[in-house]
Amino acid sequence: PAATKAKIYDSYAKVGQRVKISGWVHRLRSNKKVIFVVLRDGSGFIQCVLSGDLALAQQTLDLTLESTVTLYGTVAKLPEGKTAPGGVELDVDYYEIVGLAPGGEDSFTNKIAEGADPSLLLDQRHLALRGDALSAVMKVRAALLKSVRRVYDEESLTEVTPPCMVQTQVEGGSTLFKMDYYGEQAYLTQSSQLYLETCLPALGDVYSIQESFRAEKSHTRRHLSEYTHIEAELAFLTFEDLLHHIETVIVKTVQYVLEDPIAGPLVKQLNPGFQAPKAPFMRLQYKDAITWLQEHGIKNEEDQDFQFGDDIAEAAERKMTDTIGVPILLTRFPVEIKSFYMKRCSDDPRVTESVDVLMPTVGEITGGSMRIDDTEELMAGFNREGIDTDAYYWFIDQRKYGTCPHGGYGLGTERILAWLCDRFTVRDCSLYPRFSGRCKP
Ligand code: 4AD
Ligand code: MG
Repeated sequence: PAATKAKIYDSYAKVGQRVKISGWVHRLRSNKKVIFVVLRDGSGFIQCVLSGDLALAQQTLDLTLESTVTLYGTVAKLPEGKTAPGGVELDVDYYEIVGLAPGGEDSFTNKIAEGADPSLLLDQRHLALRGDALSAVMKVRAALLKSVRRVYDEESLTEVTPPCMVQTQVEGGSTLFKMDYYGEQAYLTQSSQLYLETCLPALGDVYSIQESFRAEKSHTRRHLSEYTHIEAELAFLTFEDLLHHIETVIVKTVQYVLEDPIAGPLVKQLNPGFQAPKAPFMRLQYKDAITWLQEHGIKNEEDQDFQFGDDIAEAAERKMTDTIGVPILLTRFPVEIKSFYMKRCSDDPRVTESVDVLMPTVGEITGGSMRIDDTEELMAGFNREGIDTDAYYWFIDQRKYGTCPHGGYGLGTERILAWLCDRFTVRDCSLYPRFSGRCKP
């Protein structure tokens, strides 16, 4: 019978039919009579069996890993007691070689040898991406972005695409990437927040999924120089509304990822112990976190007891989050350790209406706040940080032409993935990670 062209994932449902499947040789195993090929096409994996004359012919060809082939054959249900992807096997009756990959010294296996120096593996990222874990994380990543868009659609937010090349800072001058822009000073954006704020009067509640850039010189598990920033901004809401919205977005997005027929099983495979978060999350005020850290003998960066006003840096934050062991909304940070735009709490002007979402294993995945909506207060904020306001005239105008209470937040895509997929570092959650010393491939 004629073969119909099929993607591997779709072929699982074609038992008894003759199909034609093209893909890459993912695994190869043979004995004198039979050759087993696990074929990969990005949609899935299928075990293929070449026997008899085919096996003999193939052996003379010296098929190699990562060669491309087109296989023709009948999809068969696996006999009892055997397992393979999709629960099927392809009984191959004809094949074509599309591109033979090198063997020997130059073989794929040698290029990405397990246990190799991580920086060598990063040089070979274009090949390493084909591996089981990395490709699975990238599939989950796609489902995450699809799911978060679905949630924003349900919550009636409109997607916008702010610029990457800007002349303003959002999260401090020390991590700005500077660039020459036709003779003018410009930066790569740290956050789309300021632009999202300007969209509120035009479009209502908005979100963007855009790259953000941070010149983070130190190497940590969770900092990249370029990351995919999911940001949202909402008008006419209270701090309490904002916290509630953030919980909803995280809970629903994770739920949709887990329900996804491709990504759901991959999360289970990568992170068998993963517990889907449930709202409401635990709430913890910054001042109470300081007390908690003191009581648990966790020290600050100077190896002293934590004091009100200290930044809770990565190590301490993660220790606290891992000990508590549940998602935390950490709120009301002091003015001095946060950015110029954050609104102060009306009952305590030392602190701001700010929030970080902390997840066990990674710590901070989200940072957000209510924004200063009064011009004078905003000018005082710029002044405190020593920012020249000329470049911000458009942002200040926002307070002049119809100000309103508003707030928003940013989610780090790679941090969510590290948490969801149980990866040690965000580097494993970015297609081609960028950090100091690495800008290739
Ligand atoms: O906490 P951040 O710096 O907040 C902002 O940029 C706000 N302007 C966002 C907003 O309110 N619209 O960054 C937000 C999130 C962090 O919680 C973290 O998940 C991620 O972005 N993030 C990074 N991810 C990877 N590498 C880095 N260097 C990151 N810096 C921040
Ligand atoms: Mg932050």
